[in-house]
Formats: sequence, C-alpha cells, structure tokens
Amino acid sequence: MLVISNNSYRVLAIPVLLTALLSIGFYIASAQQTPTDDRLTGNWAARNVNNTEGTVRSTYFNLKHEGGKITGTIRATQFFYTIKESTGGPEGFTIIAAMPDGRSERRVQYEGKLVGDELHIGRRTRPDAPITEMIAKRAPAGEGALPARVEPPARHKVSYNGLAKTPPMGWNSWNKFAGRIDDATVRGIADAMASNGMKDAGYVYINIDDTWEAGRNEKGEIQTNKKFPDMKALADYVHKKGLKLGIYSSPGPNTCAGYEGSYGHEEQDAMTYAKWGIDYLKYDWCGARTLYTDEEMPAIYEKMGDALLKTGRPIVYSLCQYGRLDVWKWGAEVGGNLWRTTGDIRDTWDSMSGIGFRQNELAQYASPGHWNDPDMLEIGNGGMSDTEYRTHMSLWAMLAAPLLAGNDLRQMTPETLAILTNREVIAVNQDKLGKQGTRFSKSGDQEVWTRQLSGGAIAVAFFNRAKDEAKISVSWKDLGIVGKWRARDLWLHQDLAWPERQYDATVPGHGVVMLRLSHK
Ligand code: GLA
Repeated sequence: MLVISNNSYRVLAIPVLLTALLSIGFYIASAQQTPTDDRLTGNWAARNVNNTEGTVRSTYFNLKHEGGKITGTIRATQFFYTIKESTGGPEGFTIIAAMPDGRSERRVQYEGKLVGDELHIGRRTRPDAPITEMIAKRAPAGEGALPARVEPPARHKVSYNGLAKTPPMGWNSWNKFAGRIDDATVRGIADAMASNGMKDAGYVYINIDDTWEAGRNEKGEIQTNKKFPDMKALADYVHKKGLKLGIYSSPGPNTCAGYEGSYGHEEQDAMTYAKWGIDYLKYDWCGARTLYTDEEMPAIYEKMGDALLKTGRPIVYSLCQYGRLDVWKWGAEVGGNLWRTTGDIRDTWDSMSGIGFRQNELAQYASPGHWNDPDMLEIGNGGMSDTEYRTHMSLWAMLAAPLLAGNDLRQMTPETLAILTNREVIAVNQDKLGKQGTRFSKSGDQEVWTRQLSGGAIAVAFFNRAKDEAKISVSWKDLGIVGKWRARDLWLHQDLAWPERQYDATVPGHGVVMLRLSHK
C-alpha cells in the first residue's frame, strides 16, 4: 500500500515545481533562439587538400538544427561521433559529441558559427587548448556517411604462415617521417640499409607506414597517392637490394592518419599487395572502432589473416591494436606473426623505459613465429642519449622484440649505427629458441633481466633506471650457474675474467651492462 504523508508530499512537490519552472525557462530560451531557424541543417564538409599527395581528407558535419537544438553526427576521418549536447545557434554554437572506443568513450567539443554559407568551425581537445579552425561547406546529402557494417566472420584458426621464426628486423617510416614519407626517401633508406652494415647485421624489412594511400579506382582497387607513383617499381628496387618491402593498412574504412583503409576490400587489398611484391603488412585498428567492438577484433583480424594466406605470397602479418583485449592470447590464432602490446612509443626515456619494463608478464606468449611487439625503435631520433639508446636496444633484445629502426638511416652518427648494428646484442634478440627474457630481480630502480638462449647460454642485462650511476650485482648461485663459465660483455665486446661467486656491474644512470654467459 502506498501512503504519502503530508511531509513526503512536500518533498516531492519541490522537484516537480523546479522541473516545471526549468521547462518554462528552457522554452523561453529556445524561443529566443528562434526554433524555426534551421540554417545549420545539412551535410557540411571541411576538406583538407594535400597537394603534395593529391589527397583530400574531409571532416563531415551531418547536422539537424531543430527547435534550437543541434543533433546529428560528425565523421572526422577515422572517428565517427554522435552529437550529445549543443548550445547556441548559427551566430555561435558549441557541440559536444561522443563515440564508443573499446571500453571507453571519446568526446570532442566543436565550436562554430555560420558565416555566409560557410560553417567556420573549430575543435578543442581540452577546454584550455587552442581551437583548430576549419571551414566547412555544404556537401551532397549522404556524402561521407559511414559505410554499412559488415558482420564479422565466424571464428576459426588461421594457420601459421611459417614466417618470422625470429623477431622481424628492419625499418619503419613512422617514428621519423610520419606523413612526410615518399618513394625517394624509401629508396634512400634502402640504399643506406644495404650499404651501411645494417643489412649484413640482419635488417631486412623496409616498412612504409601510414600516408601512402589514395582512394580506390572504379574496380575498387586501392591507389597510391602522388608520393608513391609506382609501388611495384619501388618493391622491385628494394628487392634488388636484397631487402623486403612492407606496407600499412587498417581494417576500418580509414587509417589512423585518416587515409583509405581496407574495410570491405580485404581480399582485394591483399591481392594488390601481393601483386606489388609486398612482404609485410602492419594492420592498424584505428578506423575499425567506428564499426566494431574490441570483442570483435579477433574475427576482424582473422579476415586479413585469411586474405594474406590466400595470396600465396609470404607476407609477415603485424597486428597493431595497442595491446587491447589481451591480444597476446589470440594474436597467433588469427595468423599474426607479431602484435603490438602498447600504445605508441615516443622518443623519450619515460616512454621507452615505461613500455619496455612493462613487458615482463607477456614473456610466455612469445615463441618462434609469434612475437610481442612493444613498438618500433627510437634509436638515433635525438630525444634520448646514446646511453639511453643502448638501454633501448638491450631491452628490446632481451624482450625478443621486433627490431624496427625508426630513424633516418641516410644520416646518422657512427654511435647510432654502432648501437643498431651491435651483432652480439642482435644475436640475443635473434636467438633461435625464441624465449622472451624476464625480470630476474629488482631493487628500487635497479633491475636484472635474464633470457635463456639456445645451447644453455644465458643473457643477463643489468639495467639502471635511476639517473645516477649504480652498482648492480647478481650471484652465479642465484642464476643456477655452477663452476666456471665464459662471460662476455656485449657492449664492450670483451670476455671478462670469470669472477668468483657473483658479478658486480657498475652501470651508468639510465644505462645497461649486458652479458652473455655460456658453458666453457
Ligand atoms: C598508430 C600506430 C602508429 C602509426 C600511426 C600511423 O598511431 O600505432 O604506429 O602506425 O598509427 O597513423
């Protein structure tokens, strides 16, 4: 039985009264914004023309302006937002839009106004950030609409392609060149790699990252933009140097940088890559989040895994989805040879060390043909000292991580080249056993990592994450070593006199001492 006492009636009456007053207030406010004013209604496109590439990347505002409210969607290259809130009208408005992104939500705020028949509109990433302005013009209805969702295929295992028995070694364009990569630069990098000792040290893949793409022709085939006039000719050039060529795409309609993705064209793109002579594909989730949930990732990656196998060409398959959904648990099943375990690396000590030292728990998921990928190298890009870059190289070697240089190989210091081509450290990285190293001990900022190598050898790395020099020790007993072994310092390139009981390494701030211990 529901009994409403006088008191609770009064408590209820206050919110009711407030709501009524607020509604009247809103009605008056929206009446002032002339509810019949629908000048913002329509599909608006802000076109970003890149003459060097001959590409146009657009942001679409598909708006409905009714009763003083702006609703609709915003497609900003790889993102697709639904408008959640709006204030104002043609003379000045603010809209807040959101989209789901895995387990989180992305929000953006746009501020704009109508100027003649143009929408002057800007985006703020943070309330205190400056606004980036763009001009949108009316576009035909439907242009820029998100393509219809294709249901993910049923799950099944993609068979192993037999590649990457040791972690891939090569170079990738993104860290240094981002959108500035072009045919001439790739050729220059190939020339450098083939002649500066890197190829001899094991580097082989030259990987073009995002921004090579244009649109599609009438047959639906992916086209290269002006920066890459002839991909087949480029692949031939790279192959003649004894190197291999890699490329980049996304399972979504757009890549991370907003270029054409492989969505709905997976098999066709794989065939095109094979026709061009591509040897490696990095497949980057980004744009796919507009259509799929994280849980659907494995099925979506499987689709390209199948497509690559079907070409009959050996193409290394690199998954890039920033380690979401514990990719290390299913990366191999979808045909992946390697999978990114983190967000993007930056050329700083904090970024590199933060990523590298976080990989310990993933060791069990690496094996020949299937590698954890803590992202590309920053060695030689200038943001860290040579000591820190030696730590970067050593850590990636201990982690059995892909060694993809990310600097300008055409001009680097002898020190950078020496770090990248340290064959003794590379031998640890490329060890046939394919066992990823793990943290053996840790005391404050000092860590000892070990990696089991073939033939019963052990790689031991003494890492000093502190700014000041430190002494780091490990006893042979703790490592299970009995008797006299051979100890080699992999950075000094020297055999050490076998110390009794333990090794005491003096390690510079942010530095490393790396040893290979083997039976006599
Ligand atoms: C993402 C990837 C990067 C790079 C860019 C290209 O951020 O994680 O490695 O490929 O996209 O747009």
